[in-house]
Amino acid sequence: VTAAGRVAVIVAAAGRGERLGPGAPKALRELGGVPLLVHAVRAMAGAASVDVVVVVVPADEVGPVRILLDAEATSRAELLVVAGGDSRRSSVRCGLAALPVDVDVVLVHDAARPLAPGALADAVAQAVRAGADAVVPGLPLADTVKAVDGAEFVTSTPDRATLRAVQTPQGFARSVLQAAHDAATDDAATDDAGLVERNGGRVLVVAGSGEAFKVTRPIDLVLAEAVLARRRADAHG
Ligand code: C5P
Repeated sequence: VTAAGRVAVIVAAAGRGERLGPGAPKALRELGGVPLLVHAVRAMAGAASVDVVVVVVPADEVGPVRILLDAEATSRAELLVVAGGDSRRSSVRCGLAALPVDVDVVLVHDAARPLAPGALADAVAQAVRAGADAVVPGLPLADTVKAVDGAEFVTSTPDRATLRAVQTPQGFARSVLQAAHDAATDDAATDDAGLVERNGGRVLVVAGSGEAFKVTRPIDLVLAEAVLARRRADAHG
């Protein structure tokens, strides 16, 4: 990648989010009165390094989300809304297909991580610009992790010091991410960096953020509300 191209973020928001309980698609659930998706797009579009944001939503939400985000559009980033697919991988592919030609650095972000700071996107994009093919934010683990067999018996305990819990936004040279998606034939990889690894690429971990956690279970919404409340208090204090 050169200094000439633009940086895009694909925000994957086409999942149904069943683990959060019944109701609207997860990305449209509200946090502090604002849909998760809007929090995520605000943060990414507000990041200094981000030029284009492609939001991938369920096909029947393209129109409504476009209207929702047009009401927001205060940042200089270009905003596109496209329909996604049945799996996260196919949704990211839909986002890739919509990228303008002059984009050469692509970040992929989960709408389900609404509080990931824009500065994290900047750090990831910067590491790609500096020469890495693929960059993921990651944190050391608090818990010990066990591998188990089909009957829940432990088969091994990896050394915790060698593990990282990885987050999004993940960043890529556009050609690297496109090649990894073109080569993928199944949904075994649970993140985009996993596709790059399977395609022989090298992935660098940079420092993640405690605020980039994924809202998956109902208790995650409680934590997210608390983070928002603290941000509001900091802004007014
Ligand atoms: O299900 P999971 O938590 O892995 O979803 C991560 C992200 O991928 C979510 O933001 C979700 O909206 C998105 N996704 C998608 N298209 C799908 C499934 C998930 O964009 N078909």
